[in-house]
Amino acid sequence: MKRKNGRKHGEVFTNRNIVQYILDEVGYSSALDLRNIKILEPASGKGAFAKEIIKRLFQSSVRYEFSFNKALIENVHLIELDLITFSKLAVSVDNLIESLTNEKSNLSSQICFQTDFLNFNFKTKFDCIVGNPPYIRHELISEENKRAYRSKYKTFKYRADLYILFFEQSLNLLKENGILSFICSNRWLNNQYGTGLRELISSKYNLVKLLNIEKSSPFDEDVIAYPCISTISNETSVGTTLFCEDNSKEIDFDNVVFNQINMPKNSSWQNLFLEYDINHSALLGIVEQGFEIGIGVATGADKIFIKSKSEMNGIEKSRLIPLVKSSDLKNNKFNWGENFVINPYENETLCNLDKYPHLKSYLIENKELLSKRHTARKSPDKWFKTIDKIKPEIQFKPKLLLPDLTGNKLLFIDEGNYYPHHNLYYITRSYLKNSFSTK
Ligand SMILES: C[S@@+](CC[C@H](N)C(=O)[O-])C[C@H]1O[C@@H](n2cnc3c(N)ncnc32)[C@H](O)[C@@H]1O
Repeated sequence: MKRKNGRKHGEVFTNRNIVQYILDEVGYSSALDLRNIKILEPASGKGAFAKEIIKRLFQSSVRYEFSFNKALIENVHLIELDLITFSKLAVSVDNLIESLTNEKSNLSSQICFQTDFLNFNFKTKFDCIVGNPPYIRHELISEENKRAYRSKYKTFKYRADLYILFFEQSLNLLKENGILSFICSNRWLNNQYGTGLRELISSKYNLVKLLNIEKSSPFDEDVIAYPCISTISNETSVGTTLFCEDNSKEIDFDNVVFNQINMPKNSSWQNLFLEYDINHSALLGIVEQGFEIGIGVATGADKIFIKSKSEMNGIEKSRLIPLVKSSDLKNNKFNWGENFVINPYENETLCNLDKYPHLKSYLIENKELLSKRHTARKSPDKWFKTIDKIKPEIQFKPKLLLPDLTGNKLLFIDEGNYYPHHNLYYITRSYLKNSFSTK
């Protein structure tokens, strides 16, 4: 495995088995009369899908005796942004057409468009949309494009990868009962930046099939892409989705066995995987089940930031959070040492010290020491920050506490009273509080 993403334009080319499978998925088969089927490849690359589309259309024209050239010009749209890749696409499209028809061709000029798919205004809608959209991480998208995409695409949320927008624009371009099938990363199925796309699909489209093939190598080079083939149709939801996870290196597409699961009804698709995994008795990883694993706070100056009850020097109560240390968990017993950690943060940024005069004078007394810490030297104006940001909500989450090397035989349960110190690991699960209840 070499790279996580494609190059500048997210280019990673698809192998032929996948192309065949995807075209079959959307029903673009040479056994059918394809003369009126409008098909779009929004990120054509050098033509992995394009060539197969043209071959199938040609075979269909022979079988059903219609004009191949006319059907091609009217119904096939191939888009590619990158100029060099586009010229290769155009050449291979014309070469292929010539070899099929035995006639000189420059039809590429009528079916290949060198443009940004995401900024293109289409005048037509499509029966089928297929492809392998570019993977471009959020931070690699230019600021100018981000601004443009944000105003145009409602799924461009959080740190969305570019492929999310390819889904949205393509879904918008589907005719009624049209169908789309893309191979791309499966990350959007349950991460934060996929929320908008999941919402859109659950509310307006039918998630027909998911084939999760994250362990296989469906591209023409080794990349780490966690691929999944998603097939989505623009028809009233039929309420079920076919799901399969195939972990073979080489997928045998003719023998993939799908299972029927309930079509997700909102943006939370976690159950989709849970339902599948439960049916297959596979134990999900702890994080996949929605748990979070964390480690307590490191301050960089415990003597200053951690105070016992008797040493609080009048510091404002709202700035103090009860802290549990691993030394409180000894000999299988929990004896809280009555320590507190000073929280210098408010709403995720350092607080305005003028609001807390006692805290301010205490910190200023210790400014010299605090400023010498590595973490403060990196950003001197933040001289009173702790190494880890303090997130007050962690105190109130029920959590399992896992002390590091303290010789305990037991795990400890904190029902939501303390903030863990840095030598304590904790496991929590925000949306299923009761799973930790000791009552
Ligand atoms: C992952 S590659 C896939 C190429 C081809 N579909 C295949 O499967 O072999 C994505 C392609 O999208 C192109 N691309 C990137 N951004 C684009 C955009 N905004 N509009 C159209 N094409 C784009 C890239 O240049 C690249 O060739």
